[in-house]
Amino acid sequence: MRALVTGVAGFVGSNLASQLLKQGHEVVGIDVLTDYYEVSIKRDNLASIPQDGFTFHEADLNTADLSALLADVDWVFHEAGQPGVRMSWGKDFAVYVRQNIEATQRLLEAAKDAPNLKRLVYASSSSVYGNAERYPTSEDDRPQPVSPYGVSKLAAEHLCSLYAANFGVPTVSLRYFTVYGPGQRTDMAFTRFVRAAVLDETITIYGTGEQIRDFTFVDDVVAANIAAASRDDVAPGTVLNVAGGSNVSVNETLAIIENLNGRPLKVEHAEVVKGDVFRTGGDTTKISQVLGWKPEVTIEQGLARHLAWAQQTFGAQA
Ligand code: UGA
Repeated sequence: MRALVTGVAGFVGSNLASQLLKQGHEVVGIDVLTDYYEVSIKRDNLASIPQDGFTFHEADLNTADLSALLADVDWVFHEAGQPGVRMSWGKDFAVYVRQNIEATQRLLEAAKDAPNLKRLVYASSSSVYGNAERYPTSEDDRPQPVSPYGVSKLAAEHLCSLYAANFGVPTVSLRYFTVYGPGQRTDMAFTRFVRAAVLDETITIYGTGEQIRDFTFVDDVVAANIAAASRDDVAPGTVLNVAGGSNVSVNETLAIIENLNGRPLKVEHAEVVKGDVFRTGGDTTKISQVLGWKPEVTIEQGLARHLAWAQQTFGAQA
């Protein structure tokens, strides 16, 4: 198959592209290389992708010729977007509207006329749920985002469902629950934690650390994407949780890292940040029925791999 991966220089996009190429697919990647975090990291991510069968376009989804890019692709994986729950207030919201909502709408317009398109997978987010009505939260529970970021991801997810219902665009939206693993974004908790553990620096915890997340290892997220694309019996507009099953508090993850790293962590506490959900926990019954997917990597295994990566990456600086 020939796949277009948007946000290919990002954490999930680069891992997904590598796996698609390893499985023998062709990959066209697009990324605008925003400086939300270090562009050098994105360039390193791009360099880590096997180059045979891979083509890269440095371009903005809001201005690129998407019809040309989609002319001969079978699958689209829409991983591009402006991330960051805690940054999405204030004037920066315009960036979230443009990168998350407008770019998705533009991609869907091109997708509706793409002759070979068999699947468009949209990277949605657990942040659409906000503080959910119940746990584990299922896809039918009412989304009530508590951050502008979550609002933007939900709006784009609704657009996917609308283009599926009105034009038959074969979308599947995957609601990722806090993705982690080697190469995770530098603004996210675990990369900050394992880096600080290696360098013996202080970790800042927002609030008590009792907040709970359903952390999901990146390889499991990649597998869910490929399963969603490969199966042609999934109804357009389907929405699925991709949740790792960890259901642990931030404090529990600190204890795991401390144990793996073999010395006490230095921790300080700061105020809770507005937009931060207290708890996420995804019901994966539907995705296991629809795609036969279940998470394979436990939080202990995943954090051991994330820490080992940090030791390799930052250890020399210690
Ligand atoms: C993450 C991603 O950043 C979003 O892009 C994504 O959409 C979202 O997951 C999702 O699942 O929908 P978040 O769960 O906040 O958002 O991810 P982390 O950065 O891993 O934070 C986990 C918890 O650790 C949060 O409660 C956060 O407040 C806390 N944290 C984070 C700290 O206490 N200290 C830090 O330095 C960073």
